[in-house]
Amino acid sequence: MSAVIANNTYWMNNMSNPKIWTHKGTFLLAAVGSAVGLGNLWRFPYLAGENGGGAFILVYALTIAAVGIPILIAETLLGRASRKSPIMGMKDLISANNSHPAWKTIGWMGALAAFIILSFYSVIAGWAIHYSGLMFSGSLSGASAEVISSGFDELLASPGLLVLYHSIFMGVSILIVGMGIHKGIENGLRFMMPALFIILMVVVIYGAIEGDLSAALNFLFTFNIEDLSLEGWLDAMGQSFFTLSLGMGAIMAYGAYMSPESSLTRTAISIAIVDTLIALLAGVAIFSLVFGQGLEAGQGPGLMFVTLPLAFADLPGGGMLGGVFFVLVIGAALTSAISLVEPVAGYFIEQFKISRPKAVALMGGGCWLLGLLTVFSFNIWSSGTITHDLFGKSPFDVLEFMTNIMMPLGGVLIALFVGWSLSRDMVKAQMMTTAIWLSCWQVLVRYIAPTAVTFVFLRTLLPEGTGYYLPTLGAVVIVASFAIPHKFRSQD
Ligand code: PFF
Repeated sequence: MSAVIANNTYWMNNMSNPKIWTHKGTFLLAAVGSAVGLGNLWRFPYLAGENGGGAFILVYALTIAAVGIPILIAETLLGRASRKSPIMGMKDLISANNSHPAWKTIGWMGALAAFIILSFYSVIAGWAIHYSGLMFSGSLSGASAEVISSGFDELLASPGLLVLYHSIFMGVSILIVGMGIHKGIENGLRFMMPALFIILMVVVIYGAIEGDLSAALNFLFTFNIEDLSLEGWLDAMGQSFFTLSLGMGAIMAYGAYMSPESSLTRTAISIAIVDTLIALLAGVAIFSLVFGQGLEAGQGPGLMFVTLPLAFADLPGGGMLGGVFFVLVIGAALTSAISLVEPVAGYFIEQFKISRPKAVALMGGGCWLLGLLTVFSFNIWSSGTITHDLFGKSPFDVLEFMTNIMMPLGGVLIALFVGWSLSRDMVKAQMMTTAIWLSCWQVLVRYIAPTAVTFVFLRTLLPEGTGYYLPTLGAVVIVASFAIPHKFRSQD
């Protein structure tokens, strides 16, 4: 405990330290920037569209509250308690708490997941660059559904164009992070976040005027639980991890710069509320436009790149507004991408004592290279690759699948580590909260979140038709294997 207090006092006395956010509220801004991205504007609306709207949103909101927020608190706590990048921070926390070295997995797996996600995130954000250009130039105005849909196919079939956009997006991301946490990340966020919010409001108002607002609200807020398949539940859980940027070290890396005075609970709840509100606003805007044009909601990933441009194409001022909307998408993706660069770049700086620009270039360059796998998955490697032979999937599908496993796994490990392995003193010193809330949160991170996530996890991995019995048993056994030894230890 004394180490933690000494650590925090040190940071309090060093507010001009380059390794702490300039203002108390900057962590919130940065974490919201990380959370709000393609997950809110692209993934959330299409998943809701595919899974029955309101029913999906209900499960998603429950997961955010019972699993997402407790793990978000835990991940931020790890960052602030260690004051280092996730890999090095975990090392320190493990030795300070006499924990098993296997917990280092949290740092390493998080960094690996961040590396992989950024590689394909950048490619998809690149599509938005293409569409903002198409919209502003008016070349889609009045275009038919066939033209717009084949235009998307043509984009995916052009490796040169995809590499160009991927390079631009990655270049800008590493430029911002390379400029440092104050000059680059903080200044960038302070300008981009309000601008993004204003653009979103403009698009929502435009959608409400030009589209069918009541159909959108009806679709998003009518809870028909029978509309939701088991896959819908899984999607909702995966989405809650992705959208809150959990389990990848991004939040831990930002938490390392967090003011020692801020409340972890209040900050985490604010992040989750703002993130969910923005996803809902994006859903309202997109579905108003889509239904207003008599189009379908369940279009899958093409919702934003095919259906939405089609909706804009027929509307007055649609080219301009569509262009603005895609700028919003690019900006939101950028504020998320920079949070993916930080954990790995931070590790390079601490471990190899290299300069920030070098570390960031190394991370960005590696991600750019890996991103080529995603680029080629849509064209020259859309079939006939080794991953097709082995798994029947493209390299991009394999990378995405890997991260879909790593995110919840990382989240569960964070919950279990903070719940069972960190000393009570360290947790109390960071939480600075009432005994009642501390106990409630501990029940959530020790039992509820790990059981829920492990259950869903096993249900996805076990073959179809396994039912609920085995996943439930597996989840209970795993959580008990942490709880029981702990019980004995505390009675010593
Ligand atoms: N939360 C981001 C989104 O919703 O688009 C994606 C993301 C960013 C995931 C950062 C993970 C991460 F570490």
